[in-house]
Amino acid sequence: MVRCAKVTGMNIIISPLDAAMLDEAAAMEKICFSVPWSRGMLEQELGDEQSLWLGATDREGRLLGYVGCRCVLDECSIMNITVLPELRRRGIASKLLNCLFERLEDISNVYLEVRESNIPAQRLYWTFGFRPCGKRRSYYQKPDEDAVIMVKRM
Ligand SMILES: CC(C)(COP(=O)(O)OP(=O)(O)OC[C@H]1O[C@@H](n2cnc3c(N)ncnc32)[C@H](O)[C@@H]1OP(=O)(O)O)[C@@H](O)C(=O)NCCC(=O)NCCS
Repeated sequence: MVRCAKVTGMNIIISPLDAAMLDEAAAMEKICFSVPWSRGMLEQELGDEQSLWLGATDREGRLLGYVGCRCVLDECSIMNITVLPELRRRGIASKLLNCLFERLEDISNVYLEVRESNIPAQRLYWTFGFRPCGKRRSYYQKPDEDAVIMVKRM
């Protein structure tokens, strides 16, 4: 599956995240998260048959953002989503999520965790119909913080 999409100010391509993008994804993790996933962790996830990861690239093939989920029976968990800081608020994460949801079959609920203080991500999730359904105490480190659990009923 490869999808061309228009976001504010540019054209992007959404396609399955593959091994050739792992170095860029690991570099993006370091920029975007205080506890980044390593290249090895990403590689392991990509190799899991229950996982689905999509990347957004520009015309030159530069990775701009990605999203990953894992599905078990009729439940899906969003594992990660991120966009390069300088390219946020253009609709890239929204395109990634739209493409991801198009690919999900026979899923009843989609879950995710998000830092309590991460208002940009929570707003994004609200626009996609996710609603808070619980909390995980001290789920995150650097800094220690609770996670809000959100669910989208499909
Ligand atoms: C959260 C994140 C992925 C959003 O990516 P993005 O490409 O900027 O998101 P979009 O442009 O598709 O935004 C869609 C909507 O989400 C909401 N939103 C996104 N960023 C927001 C912000 N900084 N403040 C308020 N609302 C925001 C808005 O409703 C926005 O629609 P609008 O721009 O028309 O108002 C991005 O901020 C990011 O990479 N953050 C760091 C990594 C992270 O926290 N990931 C989530 C882990 S749980």
